[in-house]
Amino acid sequence: MPALEMTDVRKTYRSGDTEVMALDRASLTLGDDEILALVGPSGSGKTTLLSIAGGLLTPSDGSVVVGGEEISSLDAKALTRFRRDKVGFVFQSVNLVPFLTARENLLVVAEMGRRDAKESRQRADTLLDELDLGDRGGNLPNQLSGGERQRVAIGRALMNEPALVLIDEPTSALDTKLGEQVMELITNEVKSRSTAAIIVTHDTRMTHYADRSVEISDGVLAA
Ligand SMILES: Nc1ncnc2c1ncn2[C@@H]1O[C@H](COP(=O)(O)OP(=O)(O)O)[C@@H](O)[C@H]1O
Ligand SMILES: [Mg+2]
Repeated sequence: MPALEMTDVRKTYRSGDTEVMALDRASLTLGDDEILALVGPSGSGKTTLLSIAGGLLTPSDGSVVVGGEEISSLDAKALTRFRRDKVGFVFQSVNLVPFLTARENLLVVAEMGRRDAKESRQRADTLLDELDLGDRGGNLPNQLSGGERQRVAIGRALMNEPALVLIDEPTSALDTKLGEQVMELITNEVKSRSTAAIIVTHDTRMTHYADRSVEISDGVLAA
């Protein structure tokens, strides 16, 4: 079963009197352990596509099937559950909870998913180790570097064993070397768990970490 099947998805935003067509009949199929790089310039619709795939935004038209479930018709409550159980997000602006330590930032999502507490602690520690944050678990976000915060966000996205991981420009704030390290970490983590992922980037140097790349411009996916 594909991790994601988007068919003829449109998204328009109203902005004053004008309508912006952010996605125009986008169709995309993602295999259940495939890593896709979505590449396009600023304003091309990348974040909109990710948000629709993850159930954060409702499409204006079209169908979005994640893990066999049509999500475009789910109500708000079902969507919240869907996002919590099925999707891991890593956003461009790393939204860690500022008053929780790195480790607590991972554990809080496990709690929301009502996971077993002991297993969750083990899982958090394993992830922190794998992400080379084993000795940073007790640090608050403002006691971490940008690259470390980015890695905590990756760990948090993987905490609930999502079927689909959505990552928005993970390397935009990092220099090239750090960006490559983060990409390698992400792809290793995702591959070792046979999870599907979409990684948005405008940096074509990063696309070789993915199994496949698709270009988007002006809301249109390249065939
Ligand atoms: N909430 C919004 N309201 C109005 N227009 C928006 C909104 N979000 C995005 N857009 C517009 O939709 C287009 C695609 O945006 P976005 O998906 O954020 O692109 P990208 O992530 O590739 O930079 C852009 O023209 C942007 O200005
Ligand atoms: Mg964006």
